[in-house]
Amino acid sequence: MKILAIETSCDETAVAIVEDGTRVLCNVIASQIDVHALTGGVVPEVAAREHVKVMLPVIQAAFEKTGLDWSDIDAIAVTKEPGLTGSLVVGRMAAATFAFAKDKPLIEVNHIHGHLYSNWLDSEADIAFPVLSLTVSGGHNELVLMRGHGDFEILGESMDDAAGEAFDKTARLLGLGYPGGPAIEKAALNGNSESVDFPRAKMQGYDFSFSGLKTAVLYYMQAHPDAKVEDVAASFQSAVVDALVSKLIKGVKAFDVKEVHLAGGVSANKALRAKIETRLKGRATFRFPKKMSYCTDNAAMIGAVAFFTSNPPSPLSSH
Ligand code: KG4
Ligand code: ZN
Repeated sequence: MKILAIETSCDETAVAIVEDGTRVLCNVIASQIDVHALTGGVVPEVAAREHVKVMLPVIQAAFEKTGLDWSDIDAIAVTKEPGLTGSLVVGRMAAATFAFAKDKPLIEVNHIHGHLYSNWLDSEADIAFPVLSLTVSGGHNELVLMRGHGDFEILGESMDDAAGEAFDKTARLLGLGYPGGPAIEKAALNGNSESVDFPRAKMQGYDFSFSGLKTAVLYYMQAHPDAKVEDVAASFQSAVVDALVSKLIKGVKAFDVKEVHLAGGVSANKALRAKIETRLKGRATFRFPKKMSYCTDNAAMIGAVAFFTSNPPSPLSSH
């Protein structure tokens, strides 16, 4: 079954064609990163207008790359929520219009559920449930227990900033540019992670909090204007990684999970991956997305979640 998937929840206009939820036939992403770098972050109105400009060319590119046409497509999947309203509307209108015009089933899915399925992309593995997934990106930060396909429980989430947002805001504070995650990771390679002992928020249960940490970096820089930026970046990164991994390991023990999955843009972070690997001590199979383009927002994961959680796809008339 081939699904054409559309994702426009934030600042990427993405279209993919995915076969049987795992085989990515194409994964086209038009990034707006250059536009938003000018403002140091995403301006919602600007993002929506950019989606309008490239939506049809990106769909066209997906067909050109695969040599397929509409007659090969069995269903259309699209991100319904959460995300920037103006951006979501562009993708949903395009999906609904093509579903109507080409007489295809329309499957609307949740963006975060999409990230959960990024570990199924290009994977031949028989993934075993229960899976504990740490989904960390710029807009969201959740620890999700996946008991089976479509059977998800959010154990914890960030009470304020998502981890990626904390990376982005702290990078701006340190003058490291946008997007902040890769910039901090790079700077941290030349820094000492033990030079500043930033606070680790003590949150109840499985929840997270990162805004206090960001403020601690601000106060530290005000008090130590000559501090080595690389040391502060490394110490900040280590505090975020500790907070994420301690909750993850707590969940692994409590729910006796078979696999641990990392997803979302922050899953690209090598310090985070390494710490999970060390702390897991082989207790569960550890996976992260096969490609960087599956970590950050993409449409292939939307095609995967649509396949695994909507079988058979609901007909257009039911929406
Ligand atoms: O999943 P994503 O594309 O966007 C949302 O859905 O929000 O994730 C983007 C986020 C940004 O905050 C970016 O700074 C962060 O992922 N990120 C990283 C790294 N690469 C991207 N954070 C830490 N380390 C990285 N290497
Ligand atoms: Zn995302």
